[in-house]
Amino acid sequence: MFFKQLATKEASLSYFFGCAGQGKAVAVDVVAGDEDWFIAEAERAQVRITQVIDTHVHADHFSGGRELARRVGAPYCLHESDRGRVQFDFTPLADDQLIEVGNVQIRVLHTPGHTPDSVCLLVTDLRRGEAPWFVLTGDTLFVGAIGRPDLTGREREMAGVLYDSLHARILNLPDEIEIYPGHQAGSVCGAGLSGKPSSTLGFEKRWNPALALDRAAFVDALTRDIPPRPTDMDAMVHANLGLVA
Ligand SMILES: [Fe+2]
Repeated sequence: MFFKQLATKEASLSYFFGCAGQGKAVAVDVVAGDEDWFIAEAERAQVRITQVIDTHVHADHFSGGRELARRVGAPYCLHESDRGRVQFDFTPLADDQLIEVGNVQIRVLHTPGHTPDSVCLLVTDLRRGEAPWFVLTGDTLFVGAIGRPDLTGREREMAGVLYDSLHARILNLPDEIEIYPGHQAGSVCGAGLSGKPSSTLGFEKRWNPALALDRAAFVDALTRDIPPRPTDMDAMVHANLGLVA
């Protein structure tokens, strides 16, 4: 497989990976303005972009996912809970769904908490082994931090939902799993993010302070010092939902 991480605006991290042998790739969390980069990388690797995925409807940047999908003729994918919420057609992703990208396999994990529609993508390279190798954690789990739970309101309830998602779907994965998050230090999508753009689950279990807390303490910690809301958040969410201003 090939794998590229792109550090982009608003301390976001985008991903482009897939199976060079069979000429297929997926683009994840594309930021508006970066579409040309993905198209150039696809040409360089001689792959076709078969899916464009956003791990959730973003509140801190304008998504380029829909535009890239349109330009390359690929489906634009969001979790199925966005049905009725976004104002355009998209390809719905279901929990535990498998996406085959040549010899690369992606399992969709619905991990609500940061937002109700958040997903993580658990990736296996079938050429290397049958066990998953890494997980794109979106804004659910960062290096050294956790995604903020307040952007869609009901922050204490959503913090509890986030705790349950992490413990049921992520923390039970093997320690050697690599973590590639949706942001690094400088993002307003969480507090205390590391400037290092990847980690392992084992390291985060040991050193990410929020992961050592019980549910009540986790909810208290995540709702105690909530960062300011992203500038232009309403306009960004509005655009990413496809609503006309
Ligand atoms: Fe986010």
